[in-house]
Amino acid sequence: MSTELQIIAIVAEKGGVGKTTLALTLAVAAVHAGRKVAVFDLDPQATAAQWTDRRDHEFPWVVATPATRLDAAIANAKGQGVDFIVIDTPPHAGTDAVEAARRSDLVLVPVEPHLYTLETLPKLGNLLSLAGDTPALFVVCKAAVQGKEGQDAAAYVREQGFEVSPVTLHLRAAHRHAGNVGLTAQEYEPTGKAADESLQLYTYTMQLLTKRGCSHAQAKPAYARA
Ligand SMILES: Nc1ncnc2c1ncn2[C@@H]1O[C@H](COP(=O)(O)OP(=O)(O)OP(=O)(O)O)[C@@H](O)[C@H]1O
Ligand SMILES: [Mg+2]
Repeated sequence: MSTELQIIAIVAEKGGVGKTTLALTLAVAAVHAGRKVAVFDLDPQATAAQWTDRRDHEFPWVVATPATRLDAAIANAKGQGVDFIVIDTPPHAGTDAVEAARRSDLVLVPVEPHLYTLETLPKLGNLLSLAGDTPALFVVCKAAVQGKEGQDAAAYVREQGFEVSPVTLHLRAAHRHAGNVGLTAQEYEPTGKAADESLQLYTYTMQLLTKRGCSHAQAKPAYARA
């Protein structure tokens, strides 16, 4: 298992699409995989930070930080042996989302299968280029289990030229119930389908990072890029 620091940013223009749920789910999956994990909460709503107030578990650490303090927060976490950081960003985050993406090895973009969200994709493309073309993986979230809205959304996102995760986090009540009590779906209902999809998504994400040779060693702020 890699002990090199890896950083993933969760970014989406639209509100309520599942950014924080995705961030916490991946963070807990990484904890279960034996990683030392921190979540950086860039959102003034502080959803992730408030979630951790409802928990008894030490990990993942959740650190509420403004984007202007990201470098210091990363250095501090690294100094404490953290080897996996998930950065949760607010909606319409603009430059804050760019700063998070720029410091990350991979950006995950949750996409709700609805035109209101799909219409924001061009803005996401601009954001990723501003961040120096950090690799991005789009994840269909909150898709109905019945029907094929999830597949249709994935096809639409691919047509726009973006890479889409083969794993979808379907609309499952376990995610909502878990959040209410400071847990994630894997902890709330370990044998449930939401937990299974969360683990599959973590595994796929890790494989992608390994395949691409991504670790924080390669990630540089834009001013340091050639
Ligand atoms: N896959 C899912 N299945 C069911 N409910 C979900 C799922 N993902 C997120 N939710 C629920 O949808 C709501 C919004 O989710 P979340 O807070 O993760 O979105 P967000 O994008 O972080 O929102 P914001 O833009 O306000 O930060 C929450 O009530 C959450 O429990
Ligand atoms: Mg959020």
